[in-house]
Amino acid sequence: MDAYLIEWGSLLLRWLHLIVGIAWIGSSFYFVWLDNSLKPPTDPALKAKGVGGELWAVHGGGFYNPQKYLVAPAHLPDELHWFKWESYSTWLSGFALISTLYYLQAGSYMVDPSVAAISPGTAVAIGLGTLAGGWVVYDVLCRLLINRSQLLFGIVYYAFVVAVAWALTHLLSGRAAFIHVGAMIATTMSGNVFFWIIPGQKRVVAAMQRGDTPDPMDGIRAKQRSYHNNYLTLPVLFCMISNHYAFTYTHAHAWAVLALIILAAVLIRHFFNLRHKGAVRWEFPAAAIAILAGVAVWLAPAPRVASTGTAAPTLADIQPIINARCTACHAEKPTLMASAPAGVLLDTPQRIEAQAQRIHDQTVKLKAMPLGNVTGITDEERMKIAGWFEGR
Ligand code: HEC
Repeated sequence: MDAYLIEWGSLLLRWLHLIVGIAWIGSSFYFVWLDNSLKPPTDPALKAKGVGGELWAVHGGGFYNPQKYLVAPAHLPDELHWFKWESYSTWLSGFALISTLYYLQAGSYMVDPSVAAISPGTAVAIGLGTLAGGWVVYDVLCRLLINRSQLLFGIVYYAFVVAVAWALTHLLSGRAAFIHVGAMIATTMSGNVFFWIIPGQKRVVAAMQRGDTPDPMDGIRAKQRSYHNNYLTLPVLFCMISNHYAFTYTHAHAWAVLALIILAAVLIRHFFNLRHKGAVRWEFPAAAIAILAGVAVWLAPAPRVASTGTAAPTLADIQPIINARCTACHAEKPTLMASAPAGVLLDTPQRIEAQAQRIHDQTVKLKAMPLGNVTGITDEERMKIAGWFEGR
């Protein structure tokens, strides 16, 4: 029952998280595009009103003419739309999801004894510490480097993220390490909205209501941080889907795999940001594709080794291993899960045969299964599965 409830919780939270995340990232993309595409107004009346940029767009059968004011309009409108719940609800649903999947099941999802023999409690503490610590470091770097080049900031922050990825892949299971790098960056993005962007906007509005001139620094800071958020979206999204691709996070140098993919993602985002401004610079996506292709070649599986003279293990030899190590989760009525994860059933010889390739990949090549090795498979048993697969 508990496992069944966890599955429903994870389904509903993941669904919600995707929906609100799309709303957040969608509005972030839209506003960065808008900002980069604005042209100074030609109409003197608009200039006199303090409009610094405008554009025309058509969407869904309507014509739109957004105008951006330098600092703020002379008079506040009665109704002002804020964009904050997109971000807050993404963080809240994401935190609930990571708690349900990882913190409530830390023994199988976060701890990997072959990486570090830590307790589930320690693993959860490392996870939570990463989310909070990541924000503190980013915020300090931002304050120190606000007046310096944004490229310098980017390089320093990237080095920090890579260091975190290195540390986490030496402490937690690969999947937990990747998801926590993503969750740390995403927490930082929400922190930007919650601690800086929205309070800055509130100060501008309050100053105007008092009849004072708003401090332009609030706008500059908010813009800087919302630009950072924009570059961070693609890396975060990769981390979120990485859990479905064990070949990325189970690699011996998974931290370097993650570092390269994040770099490629940032380069792709940079291309789009420049393009909105009218500069088409193909060298950025070209570099990103070269990096991704390099990673693909690097991670490519080694060719199969020809089997040695001894008789290969048969299905009958490995079935007891599968029964002992896998069917607690991968059966029609599993004992450790509410239903067979990923729909993979391994409780009959036919089903084992049908899943041979995936069993080999997950158990031998990636060592991603058994999950967190909760059923204690031995290296010898993995070798037997390899032998059976190659001798088929
Ligand atoms: C503690 C429960 C548990 C045990 C034990 C376990 N698995 Fe899994 N398995 C999972 C979960 C959870 C997933 C889904 C992983 C995901 O969402 O990425 C999964 C997914 C899989 C997949 C599909 C992966 C994919 O992405 O195609 C295969 C194949 C698999 N397991 C094989 C095995 C084999 C073989 C064993 C035994 C050696 C085993 N599992 C033991 C929980 C378990």
